[in-house]
Amino acid sequence: MTVLEQITAGLSRGRQEYDRIMEQITTGDNHGADQSLYNMPEGSVLVHADNLEFMMSLLKEGYQGKFRTIYIDPPFFTKSKFNAAVVIKDGEGTKHRIRHLAFDDRFERSLECYIENMSVRLLLMRDLLADDGTLWIHLDWHSSHYIRLIMDELMGEKNFVNEIIWCYKSGGSGKKHFSRKHDTILVYGKKQKYYIDIPEEKSYNRGFKPYNFKGVREYCDDQGWYTLVNMKDVWNVDMVGRTSSERNGYATQKPLELMRRIIEAGSQEGDLTGDFFCGSGSFLEAAELAGRKWVGCDNEKLAVSLARKRLTSSGSDFNFLETEGDGIAERIGISVKESQPLENGGRLLKLAVTGFVPDIDIGYIQKNDRLHVENALREDPVQLLDYIMIDNDYDGQFICRNLTEEVAGDIVVIAPGRVRIKAVDVFGREYDGGII
Ligand SMILES: C[S@@+](CC[C@H](N)C(=O)[O-])C[C@H]1O[C@@H](n2cnc3c(N)ncnc32)[C@H](O)[C@@H]1O
Repeated sequence: MTVLEQITAGLSRGRQEYDRIMEQITTGDNHGADQSLYNMPEGSVLVHADNLEFMMSLLKEGYQGKFRTIYIDPPFFTKSKFNAAVVIKDGEGTKHRIRHLAFDDRFERSLECYIENMSVRLLLMRDLLADDGTLWIHLDWHSSHYIRLIMDELMGEKNFVNEIIWCYKSGGSGKKHFSRKHDTILVYGKKQKYYIDIPEEKSYNRGFKPYNFKGVREYCDDQGWYTLVNMKDVWNVDMVGRTSSERNGYATQKPLELMRRIIEAGSQEGDLTGDFFCGSGSFLEAAELAGRKWVGCDNEKLAVSLARKRLTSSGSDFNFLETEGDGIAERIGISVKESQPLENGGRLLKLAVTGFVPDIDIGYIQKNDRLHVENALREDPVQLLDYIMIDNDYDGQFICRNLTEEVAGDIVVIAPGRVRIKAVDVFGREYDGGII
């Protein structure tokens, strides 16, 4: 099939799938399955699920037209797999960087399959968008041209708003082509009347000298004289560098500054925003920082685990949902080493990990790195723990604590009543530590 034939076939199958889903939603015919997989709580929500199933559930719960901004950074159809780097320590304390599968971007190497997968999801996002909402789709040279075409079909070419070029310096260089140093963010409004707040940016005068035009305000900084103009569609924002404190090891992590621009332009404080391919949660953290309500979803455990950890560390208050059966697989042995009563009626507990047999799927780990993981499993499996989650008053809300070097295998919690403990390994797998 030619490229155009593949696009047409994929689009048509995506549309058929969407029609089938909408019929299910409107007639309530779900072949005996639950009407809604997730009872959406108030506030921000992180979900571990396939976004198709989750968006269907949102629509069933009446979320049609509720999202002011949706941003997605989906697979780009690179036809390859992406890894996340995870650091583990061996028995001697030496650190090793382990490459673990983050997500698969192959789509059977079929453009038709990619277009089908994307178009049904884009149609569901269109339905979730508010009438004045905007959809921001982050892509690069692999697929931005295909998705632009199908978005013109699905959303209407009249609703195209912008093609933002995000330029960066990092990444490899090309010998047979110019170095590829930009991504493309396509912006569409649901309708022609959409909300957007375009910020101003500096525009330096020629020669960095003042123009002294009548009625034009000019400013001066270290570089020279400039005016303020409405922001252009080419954005220079640094990638998350190797040594940046923002870096979390997720291969396709996007910078908070880029996310902030999108969120502030597309929504206002208190608005509902969403990222249905949230990966390690960059958009969600930026939304939280900007005072937006957010919903994030990813179908990979490792991604959701990274997002959960980073959102908890940044003090975000959110709910976590996952489909039954995806939850806790194994148990971890936790015992109380010391318990001291506190003045406020609580207890200071010192806990110890007494037994831990990680449930690790070695097939997800790059072949060259497997030996390090096997050694850790044999010599000191606790090194494979990443963080523990403590439900201090047994109300279902967990706080995360990193297992820092000082407390590895020796956990301190301040708890007034019963405490539920869970643990998460470096690859995102959850374990039940029981109730103490
Ligand atoms: C490019 S990454 C997103 C990275 C993210 N923007 C960040 O800053 O970390 C794409 C993500 O989409 C997720 N994904 C792919 N297909 C999905 C699906 N059907 N449902 C939910 N998530 C999906 C992958 O697991 C991956 O984490």
